[in-house]
Amino acid sequence: MTHQNPPSIIALDGPAASGKSTLGQTLANALGYLFFDTGVLYRAITWIALQQHLNLQDETAVTKLAQDAQIDIRPPSQKDGRAYDVLLGERDVTWDIRDGQVDANVSVVAAYAGVRQALTDQQRRIGMRGKVVMVGRDIGTVVLQEADLKIYLDASAEERAKRRFDEILARGEPAQYKEILHNVIERDRIDSTRAVAPLRPAQDAVIIDSDKMNASQVYELVMGLCK
Ligand code: CDP
Repeated sequence: MTHQNPPSIIALDGPAASGKSTLGQTLANALGYLFFDTGVLYRAITWIALQQHLNLQDETAVTKLAQDAQIDIRPPSQKDGRAYDVLLGERDVTWDIRDGQVDANVSVVAAYAGVRQALTDQQRRIGMRGKVVMVGRDIGTVVLQEADLKIYLDASAEERAKRRFDEILARGEPAQYKEILHNVIERDRIDSTRAVAPLRPAQDAVIIDSDKMNASQVYELVMGLCK
């Protein structure tokens, strides 16, 4: 790893609902960097595929969708807890891509090599400009291997499911803990066993187990690593 001070390219990976987005956002704000949540792209493709009633097992069709999709991420237009707007053409899909149907299907879509190729190219082009906190599963291992700082944020499945459960309730939506736990475990299984760019810490990543840490403790720890 090259050691820039503060690091210009920060890669933040880890399993579902481990707190990557919260950490990534606060970190990017504090450093004046771009926050790029790459999961949004995989979620958006999955949402379009579901809207179009595409057979998600049809790798060719889903890949074509990923190659053609025009996904736009813009500064937040509303104060409803969002960190950014996600737009597909004119349509605001910021919250649509967080629904249970997308959660249940996104890992299947994200396992396709062609989908990853299409989306990774875009991520890399933006990431290589620097001053960026990029969040995902394969940022430190594939997308931005030259990142100056790599963090792998982990926590037990139960703790992560609890955090996601609280998050959904806070949005005023119904949530079932058991269903969320099941989804988190299943997504991790698919994400970490896929052939292309599986979820795993980079060799030079700092691994943080956040089970017994709150968001601000994790933030302080990572900020310390940036200095
Ligand atoms: O926020 P949460 O941790 O639940 O998920 P996310 O970061 O929005 O990612 C959703 C899904 O997209 C993951 O479960 C992966 O299947 C996929 N993903 C990926 O394969 N590679 C990335 N760099 C980011 C997300």
